[in-house]
Amino acid sequence: MKGLAGKVAIVTGAGTGIGQGIATRLGAEAVKVIIDYVGDPEGAQETKHAVEQAGGEAEIVLGDVTRMEDVGKIVDTAWNRFGSADILVNNAGIEHRSDFWDTTEEEYDRVMAVNLRGAFFLSQAFVRRLREAKKPGCIVNVSSVHEDMVFPGFSTYCCSKGGMRMFMRNLAMELGPLGITVNNVAPGAIITPINNSLLKNKPQLEALLNNIPLGRLGTPEDVAGVVAFLASDDAAYVTGSTFVVDGGLMRNYKEQ
Ligand code: NAI
Ligand code: BGC
Repeated sequence: MKGLAGKVAIVTGAGTGIGQGIATRLGAEAVKVIIDYVGDPEGAQETKHAVEQAGGEAEIVLGDVTRMEDVGKIVDTAWNRFGSADILVNNAGIEHRSDFWDTTEEEYDRVMAVNLRGAFFLSQAFVRRLREAKKPGCIVNVSSVHEDMVFPGFSTYCCSKGGMRMFMRNLAMELGPLGITVNNVAPGAIITPINNSLLKNKPQLEALLNNIPLGRLGTPEDVAGVVAFLASDDAAYVTGSTFVVDGGLMRNYKEQ
């Protein structure tokens, strides 16, 4: 894709699922990738291998996006290893199922801290560096169809992803004059570890598939293609929008 080769991208939560798919796709576009992860170092190594196999370069950083010192470390790693960064993909995210009336303060704080606060302060650290260097850039948030669509039993998740929608819109206004684009990619149901329990529950899975016009779940590659487009010069005039990647889930309508 136009203008991607040689750029540097930071991808959070890149040791598994969609983040791994995004890192690998960017690697195939000759992007240098900072692979942020928490938890399983083997997943991050697997991503690094995939990026290198695809023709890119990669550096791994252990960084929890909820911790300010780690946020600084993630951005520093890009500048120390590759001299700068051009693209930030806020992908790290968690979800927690609980009825609204049972949801605890800890559950609320945790989901918001990873999904929204993490994206907020990592974007801030990234933008400060770009501003200092007078460099343009690009931020892509992996939100969800649930930035807009209800998800009963997941109020904390919907609050965080809905927040991400307005965060993106506001940043597009504030950062446009700096030459920084900001967009969201909103996946529907994608085959990744976050959906492990859904994938094991046949009736629930069948019901969901019946709601997806394209008749299948998505893959990390389906999401990664749109992220790569938004990070490329083909999307140079695109900012402030959400791009839904959901096989038509959000637009489904049945009359029976
Ligand atoms: P996943 O569970 O494989 O990926 C989430 C990643 O975030 C993991 O690698 C995890 O280690 C990382 N993470 C969690 N807490 C973190 C922290 N504090 N700091 C840094 N990294 C942290 O699941 P998936 O599906 O790949 O999720 C990626 C993103 O896509 C999430 O934001 C999720 O909400 C979003 N999404 C996923 C959909 C799906 O159906 N799989 C649909 C819509 C959105
Ligand atoms: C959630 C998944 C869910 C999908 C479609 C995503 O944001 O993380 O668990 O399957 O939306 O509802």
